[in-house]
Amino acid sequence: MAQLRDGFQSRLGFVLAAAGAAVGLGNIWGFPTQAANHGGGAFLLVYFAVIFLLALPALYTELYIGHQAQSNPVKALNQAWQDSNPKIGSTAGYVGLCGAIVMLSFYSIVAGWMLAFSLEPLARLLELNELAAFLKGDSTLRNFIFTPLMLLLTASIILKGVKSGIEAWSRRLMPLLLLLLIGLIGYMATLEGSIEGFKAYLVPDFSKVTDPDLVIAAMGQAFFSLSLGVGCMMIYGSYLKPNENLPKLTASVALLDTCVAFLAGLLIIPAIFVAQQSGVEVFQDGKLIGEGRLIFAVLPELFMNMGQIGLFVGLSFFVLMSIAALTSTISSTEIPVSFLVENHGLRRKNATIWVTLVIILVSTTIILNFEWLFGLIISVLTHYQLPLMGLFYFITVGWMWHRGNKLLEARSGFHYYFAQYVRFICPILMTAVFVNVALK
Ligand code: ALA
Repeated sequence: MAQLRDGFQSRLGFVLAAAGAAVGLGNIWGFPTQAANHGGGAFLLVYFAVIFLLALPALYTELYIGHQAQSNPVKALNQAWQDSNPKIGSTAGYVGLCGAIVMLSFYSIVAGWMLAFSLEPLARLLELNELAAFLKGDSTLRNFIFTPLMLLLTASIILKGVKSGIEAWSRRLMPLLLLLLIGLIGYMATLEGSIEGFKAYLVPDFSKVTDPDLVIAAMGQAFFSLSLGVGCMMIYGSYLKPNENLPKLTASVALLDTCVAFLAGLLIIPAIFVAQQSGVEVFQDGKLIGEGRLIFAVLPELFMNMGQIGLFVGLSFFVLMSIAALTSTISSTEIPVSFLVENHGLRRKNATIWVTLVIILVSTTIILNFEWLFGLIISVLTHYQLPLMGLFYFITVGWMWHRGNKLLEARSGFHYYFAQYVRFICPILMTAVFVNVALK
């Protein structure tokens, strides 16, 4: 008898897990930094427009492919391309899978930094000053300890499966993340300089709205933030029961992701202004000083200036970052694991071990060639692979997949209008984005 496929137990579990995949360092670090550099409220407006016009349809499309196929991206895309050329479909599945592995490899390095920075206040509290300096210091050894640690944490959740691992942990971690975020915003709002930060964030500088860089930045941010283009959402869609209301669930995931990004802006941007008020250098030539330095130098300096309470604020902040990173690394790890289980018959435990080893190998390569490789990988992935894969999914659902594709079969109602939008508008918009990025 065929073995029953693991899957999400409840709708809430799915929404929290998919929002967990989406909510990550991109929301809490990337989004506020982009907003601060691109006209505050102006970036918000463009970002919301991009989410609504493009990223939300892309999210639905990706979830839909997985949901219909009830299998991993390689199988799902192979099936979707059955009528024309299944090889093209499975090749795209492999490209997504490789993208997920590469994304995980750089993401787990950064996630490891967050983990190290969460332990640093504890080390200081215990007066282990050398350890605290090591945890805060930028060293290859620290990367070699904390990157695998983050991956082992991820693997320990993945090993337990979808319902008992991914869903159960997302149900615990996501409410904690929201609580920490709201608590930190509340505290930051009481500090001198925060009002100026709220203004800079919420009052749009309309002179920046027409800046082409702003649109490109918002597009890349939206795709990365919703974890689109590598198969994360496809695999999560495939674990949903077949009769679920996908449009409603998709909207809930996008809403939660966008709300967390918005809230993160309410924390980070006022924090920048509070730091500036306390004498920390924050802007250079009108731009935020290096993105890495914002999180790993400016904010820790601000926490340090707060005295004893700063220890707890710093701890909460970096625990928040670690949780956000963990719920995202889980989703990317699940893609290759499910592929090895379903397409190659590996046991889940062995598949998890293999995937973790491969990611450790790739991240080690990145650590050893950090100077030139780290930034290159991030920019190729976010500027090219994610939008291109998004375009590929639109073409798949809008043009290539006929048998069993309810969107193309529909003659009226939501599915019909959505199909027309995905067939014509989305590819044109996506092509425009891609050409813009390529020409930049
Ligand atoms: N979607 C994840 C993030 O925003 C990868 O960080």
